[in-house]
Amino acid sequence: MSVTAFIESLRAEVRGLPAYNAGLSGEFVRARYGVPHVAKLGSNENPGGASAAVLAHLAQSTTTGTLALYPDPSCSALRALIAERLAVDPGQLLFGNGSEDLLAIAAHTFLAPGDEVITVIPSFGLHIIYPQSVGARVVTVPMREDFEFDVEALIAAISPRTRMVIISNPSNPVGCAMDAAEMRRLLSVVSPETLVLWDEAYFEYASGDDGYPDSLAVLRESGLPWLLLRTFSKAYGLAALRVGYGVASAPELAGLMNRVRTPFNINQIAQQAAAVAFGDQAHVAASVGEARKGREWMRAVLLGLGVKPARSRANFLFFDCREDAAKLAGRMLEDGVIVKPWREPGYETCMRVSIGSAADNALFIDSFERRRGG
Ligand SMILES: Cc1ncc(COP(=O)(O)O)c(C=O)c1O
Repeated sequence: MSVTAFIESLRAEVRGLPAYNAGLSGEFVRARYGVPHVAKLGSNENPGGASAAVLAHLAQSTTTGTLALYPDPSCSALRALIAERLAVDPGQLLFGNGSEDLLAIAAHTFLAPGDEVITVIPSFGLHIIYPQSVGARVVTVPMREDFEFDVEALIAAISPRTRMVIISNPSNPVGCAMDAAEMRRLLSVVSPETLVLWDEAYFEYASGDDGYPDSLAVLRESGLPWLLLRTFSKAYGLAALRVGYGVASAPELAGLMNRVRTPFNINQIAQQAAAVAFGDQAHVAASVGEARKGREWMRAVLLGLGVKPARSRANFLFFDCREDAAKLAGRMLEDGVIVKPWREPGYETCMRVSIGSAADNALFIDSFERRRGG
């Protein structure tokens, strides 16, 4: 059998999968464009990096001599810390090699071929790709023209056939967030046979903002099956270590997901570093403070340039640049500036820019101003 014939014999949903657009690395852009410095503003990373406590921990932990041993498969230490802070049963928690791992595990655990999934567009790509990889049919509901969630359209799209609703709040890529009343209205039409997957990758940036919901409380009162996702990749500055966590509505659901996941999906170094990072909330608060400051500066400058970014409660801005965003982003690479042009149909003139250091934010504005309309 040739490779082609073999591939043709595979499941259609796998053969038809779009590739996730993971963005460019700084090393690639530096080498390809010969620029001395790269402003990496395409992946919503924390420009402040990991906390000093984590760096100090990692510097001494290489001497512990435990590298030959398998890591703790249940992340016990990290689990205890998070369970206590969130006041949840430790059995409700589960951990992923990044929260993207948990998205994949959720798709494999809760979906079957032909199941219907509702999410929004523009979307976080993996909210579509993972359900599709198990043969689910994903229905995407467009955001409103003012780049807010179209809660009414989502309500209209949800039916008894819906098996999963996936929402990131704040939204990636838009940045907007539903408030508690909108969240309650949405959940009120969801059937008990539908899993609500509430992705809070950017929780820390929005937490404490006026109108940002206590989603754990709202999900709990819904009485539905749900899974809440958070990550150490953003405000905690640990994207390279790959640690995300989920809270499931019941330990039984977490138990099912635990059977689907690979047993040692969080390495020991990552588990320990995440536990140290979780204990350093001052670093998280400082990172969030910087991101908010940079975001409001960037928003004001963009407004001055005639560009209207969507309301954002996260560490990025999304806006319509009214030209082919991929071409513009390509020209900006020549200045060493990486942004994320949107590729989903209907949004090809939109781009998302992460909030970086003050210097990188200024580099972005300078490049955007010079390169646009070209
Ligand atoms: C909405 C959302 N969910 C999940 C993820 C996955 O993050 P990680 O796997 O690094 O935890 C991201 C990353 O950008 C995201 O934006």
